Amino acid sequence: MKRAASHRCTALRGRILHALGDPAEEGTAAIEDIADGLLLIEDGRIAALGPADTLREALGEGVVCHDFSGRLILPGFIDAHVHYPQTRVVAAHGIDLLDWLARHTFPAEAAFADPEHARSSARFFLDELLRNGTTGAAVYCTIHPGSVDALCEEALARGMRIVTGKVMMDRNAPPDLRDDAESGYRESKALIARWHGRGRLAYAVTPRFAVTSSEAQLEAAGALLREHAGLYLQTHLAEQRSEIATVGRLFPWAESYTAVYDRFGLLGPRSLFGHCIHLGEAELRRLWETASVAALCPTSNSFLGSGLVDLEALRDRRRPVRTALATDIGGGTSYSMLQTMAELYKVTRLRGGNADPAGLFYMATLGNARALGLEGEIGNLTPGSIADVVVLDPRRRPALAHRLEAGAAEAVSELLLALAILGDERIVEATFVAGRPLYACPGSGVSVVQP
Ligand code: GUN
Ligand code: ZN
Repeated sequence: MKRAASHRCTALRGRILHALGDPAEEGTAAIEDIADGLLLIEDGRIAALGPADTLREALGEGVVCHDFSGRLILPGFIDAHVHYPQTRVVAAHGIDLLDWLARHTFPAEAAFADPEHARSSARFFLDELLRNGTTGAAVYCTIHPGSVDALCEEALARGMRIVTGKVMMDRNAPPDLRDDAESGYRESKALIARWHGRGRLAYAVTPRFAVTSSEAQLEAAGALLREHAGLYLQTHLAEQRSEIATVGRLFPWAESYTAVYDRFGLLGPRSLFGHCIHLGEAELRRLWETASVAALCPTSNSFLGSGLVDLEALRDRRRPVRTALATDIGGGTSYSMLQTMAELYKVTRLRGGNADPAGLFYMATLGNARALGLEGEIGNLTPGSIADVVVLDPRRRPALAHRLEAGAAEAVSELLLALAILGDERIVEATFVAGRPLYACPGSGVSVVQP
């Protein structure tokens, strides 16, 4: 059947690479690699994909075809933990997490009381995600409800897949950055009513971490999760030793950091726990039993000196904890999921482990989609998915192009590792959200749609 232009049909031609499954389970067959592929997009969704010479005849008159021959067509990246109010604290010096939060991050977040500042920051942040090929993310706002409104309005205009929520924080923070158990609950509830399920937005109940929430506030977070089906929860867990010691002092009854969240019903398959570096066996077992997700943030962990996350221990086959991959901007140092894959590779090597490049690519795409319960909508390019797509041109970085001339392009895992280590936003040629080109680098020939 020919596809007519009236169905708002676009075609992208190039080398198509995406994960159909987890390479740890399915080996090399998990990555589909179509050397000269065609991706057909109809009304914002993937309609078909396959070799260009077989699919070309399905194209009707007037279908817009972008020829990305020599370039790579991938699913848009997904970032499972990132702070949009922290774009101005990337690379700020601190002696540890709590010092970095107090001296840099809290003052930066206080500025979000101003809705105009929130609006311009949200625009910068979302555009930066797109420049990096990231089309979906789980995002922290600040305690101000207006910070959520700004991000959601901008994400809605771009059609992006954003999971987000107002930070809840009622102690151990500056007075102008505190809510209380009741106001945090009430404001979150109003934001859920306003944003959850609208367009491609979903709400995440967001108590910052156990250090900054009282028991009453954690109780309120649990109540919100019970009262509304389909919400996410996002928070931080076991990032630094000094943080863990503080949690021990604040919750003397708890046998572990994880047990604090567990007590208030915050563990579960839609719960995303940032970092998860220093966990005991009982905690890992509890995360596994509840199908909770550990969102790993390797560039942040290196920068803040938090530690080397133990990917292999998390995934121990006897109790495999679900994992996701994330930048954690502004603790993290790069918006690029390629650079984030590279950092997890290095951290795993430093631990003496073996990180499969195909597995890292899976994490940044389909793995993160599964972690968010969004397989089928995002994470790969199978027909029926929303057409969130990134086009990479390795030639835009001479060092990468030169490396690939050595033949790395033939073996997919070699190619993926070279892309991660030597690639970043400089090789992103274009980013499509639901089939619309929202970012294109100069010289790409793609006309960007203004949100
Ligand atoms: N723990 C609590 N809040 C934060 C934050 O903003 N960044 C990081 N890296 N860790 C946290
Ligand atoms: Zn974080």
